[in-house]
Amino acid sequence: NRKGIVVLGIFAADLAFRAERMPRMGETLLGQRFNLGAGGKGSNQAVAAARVGGAVHLLTRIGDDAFGQLALDTWRSVGIDTRHARVMAGESTGAAFIFVSQQTGDNAIIVTGGAANGLSAKDIDAADDALADAAVFIAQLEQPVEAMQAGLRAARRHGVMTVLNPAPAPAEDLGDEVYGLCDYITPNESEAEALTGVAIKNIDDARVAAQRLLDRGVGCAVITLGSQGVLLHDATQSIHVPCFQAGAVVDTSGAGDAFNGAFTVALAERMTTLEALRFASAVAGISVTRPGTAPSMPTRAEALALLDAAPLPA
Ligand code: RIB
Ligand code: NA
Repeated sequence: NRKGIVVLGIFAADLAFRAERMPRMGETLLGQRFNLGAGGKGSNQAVAAARVGGAVHLLTRIGDDAFGQLALDTWRSVGIDTRHARVMAGESTGAAFIFVSQQTGDNAIIVTGGAANGLSAKDIDAADDALADAAVFIAQLEQPVEAMQAGLRAARRHGVMTVLNPAPAPAEDLGDEVYGLCDYITPNESEAEALTGVAIKNIDDARVAAQRLLDRGVGCAVITLGSQGVLLHDATQSIHVPCFQAGAVVDTSGAGDAFNGAFTVALAERMTTLEALRFASAVAGISVTRPGTAPSMPTRAEALALLDAAPLPA
């Protein structure tokens, strides 16, 4: 009865700037606020999972600099197992520029992986003990493709459930092998559009895109649709869950990571499909009411309180 969650991905120090709008080229704009916090999709998902009770290993690389220390402090504070997080001497840690709209809370991001750009199949081999013991493996697309592929292959070999969060959207086709290795794929609407070519404006469009992903070989497609909720679609079911309103939306960055991290915990705990979707949606719904990415991840108690306040219609 394996419970562990293995997350492959990067850490980035999020340098978040709030402003009325993006600056134009050549322009200097006065912003409203700056905040430095822990980020990077893989690390955010690991933090989200750990905060709601997951037993999490993070496979990554960071540098031995100030941002690397922020990573170590963050992981320690939530109890992530960092045995397979390598600190690379003389290298730099990932960092992200995040523009957050003062008006809408929407964001635009530039991220660089730093030392995590060196992640390879060797890092996966070195973490074989963690994988052999895990219930769920998840990766995103911020680290090299080679590491992602090796991770999916190793997870499959060990009979571990696989989740690919294809974020950011890949420039090239993922290829049939990768699709075939995904028990779950979890794009947001724009990533699903990039993967399938289907323009997604509503839930019906999302279902069409999801079916294309199934046709490519994935077991189950879970498309997050922001304020329109989430659609899960596989060979036997198509379930839509609306998003949870937990308060005023202040910062949507990291919402996808909140959803994905919580979803891996739901899978590891063998929740039903509907329970898993609602649990992950509640966690994401709380995260958008708080600034930052990793620092905005709620506890399990907070997520359960929101679920209790919004029971299923009888
Ligand atoms: O998904 C949000 C994350 O994307 C941010 O934390 C940023 O670091 C980028 O990786
Ligand atoms: Na947030």
